[in-house]
Amino acid sequence: MLEQINRLLAQAESAITAVTTTEALEAYRVEYLVRKGAIASLFDQLRSVPPAEKPGVGKALNELRTRVQQLYDAKAAELRSPGPAAERTLDLTLPGRRGFTGTRHPLTRTMDEIISIFVGMGFGIADGPELEDDYHNFEALNFPPDHPARDMQDTFFVSKTALLRTHTSPVQIRVMKEHRPPVRVIMPGRVYRNEAVSARSLSAFYQIEGLYVDKGVTFSELKGTLVAFARQFYGRDIKFRFVPSFFPFTEPSAEMYITCFLCKGKGCRMCKHTGWLEVLGCGMVDPNVFRNVGYDPDEVTGYAFGMGIDRTAALRYGVDDLRLFYESDIRFLNQF
Ligand code: PHE
Repeated sequence: MLEQINRLLAQAESAITAVTTTEALEAYRVEYLVRKGAIASLFDQLRSVPPAEKPGVGKALNELRTRVQQLYDAKAAELRSPGPAAERTLDLTLPGRRGFTGTRHPLTRTMDEIISIFVGMGFGIADGPELEDDYHNFEALNFPPDHPARDMQDTFFVSKTALLRTHTSPVQIRVMKEHRPPVRVIMPGRVYRNEAVSARSLSAFYQIEGLYVDKGVTFSELKGTLVAFARQFYGRDIKFRFVPSFFPFTEPSAEMYITCFLCKGKGCRMCKHTGWLEVLGCGMVDPNVFRNVGYDPDEVTGYAFGMGIDRTAALRYGVDDLRLFYESDIRFLNQF
């Protein structure tokens, strides 16, 4: 009898490991635990066991029933929650997953670098609204009423008078109207132009503007400041040249070029085979602009400059399509 009990226990213990569904579990219960099941029928045989052996056999039978009930309960709990099964598929020997570290956007990096160079020279930082009016964006900056830059072609007009600023120069007006000279600030920000988007031009991009007004500011100070900047930003050994240009709000005006650092001046695709790259526009603040903000042009002089940050970043990092800066493509951004 004890032998039969042990055999049934072994059988029940191995059978439970094959149970993976609630249907199989129910079959298991019917086989072992119901009133007409295998264990109950052993209990029935207890009657024919010799009286001397009854206590020992009875005890073994009770233990069998308790044990099988435990196996059943444990399996039922396991099937109810997938937890333990899922845990068994967790491979603790797998190498860990590396977290992703973000990086600063190349435009942000370029802007921060330019800002820190000018801050190191004593410039403060100012900003103004992207939604501007005709007065700040054009009129106060000495754009004659019929200037082509006012044409609907270039400017996004929001209403008859409200527009998206086409450059950061209106911030010059706001700063000078707020502060008496001396004024020495840089003004980074987003600007908008109604242009077809291409590899070389965008309809929204960033500029950084510089303005220094004081008694006796000269063009050679402008040159000195910009050359010092370019050497820090583009490298010690660049060559540069200033070419006469025109802006309504500066007189005289110039554009600054540096030797192409890709081909070192020999001529390549980046510099359109000229050996030179245009990096910024600049000039001495026009007396009319001073009059518009209430400064006396006989008392103060000043210089201003402006550069496109997207273009600067493209030159700096050798990026040949400005649109890449705005596509949020991780494969591109990961390289910075
Ligand atoms: N605002 C000019 C532009 O957008 C750049 C500039 C700024 C030129 C300041 C001269 C002085 O092209």
